[in-house]
Amino acid sequence: MAKEIIESPSHALSEFELQQLIMLPGYKTKEMTSGNTDFSSQLTKFSAGQHPKIKLNFALLSAAMQSVTGSEMAISMAQEGGLGVIFCSQPIEKQAKMIKEVKRYRAGFVIPHTVSPDAPISEVIALANERSYSTFPVVDSGGVLLGYITKNDFDRKRHAGLTVKDRMLPIEKIAVAYDDEIKDNLAAAYEKLVEGHHGSLPIITRDGKLKHIVFKKDVDHHIDKPLAALDSDKRYLVGAAINTSDYRERTKAMIEAGADILFIDTSQGHTDYVKETLQFVKKEFPNIPIVGGNIVTKEGFDFLAENGADAVKIGMGPGSICITQEQIGVGRGQGTSIIEVANARDDYYKKTGVYVPVIADGGIRVAKDITVAWALGADAVMAGKYLAGCDETPTKVRTIARIVDGKAVEVREKPYWGEGSDKAKEWMIAGRYGQNDFPEGVEAWVAYAGTLKNHLAQAKAMIKDGMRKAGCATIKELHDKSVLQILSAGSIKEGGVHDVTPD
Ligand code: IMP
Repeated sequence: MAKEIIESPSHALSEFELQQLIMLPGYKTKEMTSGNTDFSSQLTKFSAGQHPKIKLNFALLSAAMQSVTGSEMAISMAQEGGLGVIFCSQPIEKQAKMIKEVKRYRAGFVIPHTVSPDAPISEVIALANERSYSTFPVVDSGGVLLGYITKNDFDRKRHAGLTVKDRMLPIEKIAVAYDDEIKDNLAAAYEKLVEGHHGSLPIITRDGKLKHIVFKKDVDHHIDKPLAALDSDKRYLVGAAINTSDYRERTKAMIEAGADILFIDTSQGHTDYVKETLQFVKKEFPNIPIVGGNIVTKEGFDFLAENGADAVKIGMGPGSICITQEQIGVGRGQGTSIIEVANARDDYYKKTGVYVPVIADGGIRVAKDITVAWALGADAVMAGKYLAGCDETPTKVRTIARIVDGKAVEVREKPYWGEGSDKAKEWMIAGRYGQNDFPEGVEAWVAYAGTLKNHLAQAKAMIKDGMRKAGCATIKELHDKSVLQILSAGSIKEGGVHDVTPD
């Protein structure tokens, strides 16, 4: 919670939104360099003097939404030090498959998809279309590596009737390494790759069984990403959303698939259903952290914390595609919600010695909103719209002509829809908003944003600069030292480009 929130000039509560808050500059020392600005934060609860089970190096989560977080987004979010939460508005098996996809990556060591020597070439073509890579190891029924097949080993038309063994590169022709020589040492695998001029290196046991593949491009990426969010086995962290109807089966499947943390996905978390879900998970699976939500009041926070939530998610109505407030007249401005719930978290900590982190979910339009949400007291932020334009979402880009500033221009866009929209409910079981027969979200488009890596590199640069100019080097310092003020309509105008003729 910030040290001081200046609320003058006074505004109606409905106007008190994230967008209208700005941080005042603070004292910036020479030591506050971009290199030591720290975005890390606790994600799960801990007692005074102890450590949380999960900590993120970049306190940002991608929303559990069909149009935002599949396995590709979750992998990239973890590489950036954040966390992807895979949506639960889909059949349990599909969600479990996405979680497993993320857990196949072990910071450079991939558990590969394999093919059998008798599989038709058409199966390899289908697999390559489905995945972002096209190198498949060929193994026998006992898991022994026989060779490789890549998309360069066959002609799609001419060889469509053949089988994998007819076109694969046999093991005698490929370089391999043994698991007892490489162990967990990515640097040793990298040396072998570079020395041998290879793009990939299978790691096998002494009796020939395939264990992992190391791809050079993954190692490059890993070396590039020292802050990645990893589990104790060096695999990427991933979250799984669950709902309050099929949570018994879904929770078990998510944990078996390897999920590191669960998120109860409801628009109103102060309910008996959420309490029952929390109690079930805590009793049956006491080792998996679980986030409760969404709530926007002190009572909501206390309720979830007392029922065992490891973190609490804040937000009702601030989502860019959300029409909950208009449809049912319930919700709250996100700025006000964060302040009240962060206060409740601090009071709870003083009273019990247990710190339950809070995650601000929804309403992030631009990078500075993340910094402001942290400064208001959030330990982490969850975003949908802000990430929905990136390459890694499960959606496709379109190019379309639009009128921008009176001129017709071609723009690239990606679709983005609410989990409460009719589109999201097509798959349907009684899920997040399943009991309602009216929509609580809309279908929309957002500007194409390129790769997550580049999008977040720019965001991180802006956030760092904002934090330093506010005199804060860490999220904790933002909580303790930052001073925020509400912008009047005139200040918003003055803060943007004004009184000049646009180019
Ligand atoms: P955004 O970052 O402002 O786009 O908000 C994303 C958040 O909106 C999600 O994490 C959800 O909490 C919430 N949300 C997702 N779908 C819906 C919906 O259909 N109606 C209301 N809120 C939604």
